[in-house]
Amino acid sequence: MVRLAVLASGSGTNLGALLEAAADPGYPCDVSLVVSDVPGCGALARADAAGVETAVVTWADHGGDRRAFTAAIVDELRRRDVELVALAGFMRILDAGIVDAYPNAILNTHPSLLPAFRGAHAVNEALDAGVKVTGVTVHVVDEKVDHGPIVAQACVAVDDDDSPETLHERIKAVEHELFPRVVADWARGTFAVEGTRVRRRAVARRT
Ligand code: GRF
Repeated sequence: MVRLAVLASGSGTNLGALLEAAADPGYPCDVSLVVSDVPGCGALARADAAGVETAVVTWADHGGDRRAFTAAIVDELRRRDVELVALAGFMRILDAGIVDAYPNAILNTHPSLLPAFRGAHAVNEALDAGVKVTGVTVHVVDEKVDHGPIVAQACVAVDDDDSPETLHERIKAVEHELFPRVVADWARGTFAVEGTRVRRRAVARRT
């Protein structure tokens, strides 16, 4: 069983999807820890309700020092022997220290088809650009923001009447299915990172 930590800042619906998936005895990960930078956020409430340990690490507590903020999070992860980290709507940019601590072991879900629309406003920017198709990307995290080898993508059609809210809701529904699946694939060793690309393996490495 892979020890998974989920980092989240918001309502935590993606955390909810991971918790639901992990409740199945056949799921290869155990949600061992939820870390948030936002005291009282929905993600923390979901973790509490599921009986999952939580840690709050705020930006202010570390004087806005990205390296110290990241190091404090890595410390929380290491103390629980976390093996895999899922960024599920974690809205702070982390220092490369977390990638050094967890090389190829951090997954992020992003609400666009990367490399289009990186950053915190992906849904609004897709609407403003007038694209007819956007979607979800789950990728391995590297040193850059919303960047790193792409594991899986799924499309979401943009409707003429979409608002940022209606579009994001449909995108999230896709994330809720795709992200737990990719997290399980990582845990089962069903893909490997080869440079900038991810390749499916014929034979799984882990069980
Ligand atoms: C998701 O769409 C995620 O991709 C983005 O922020 C949103 C978080 O939603 N980075 P939630 O907190 O999981 O509901």
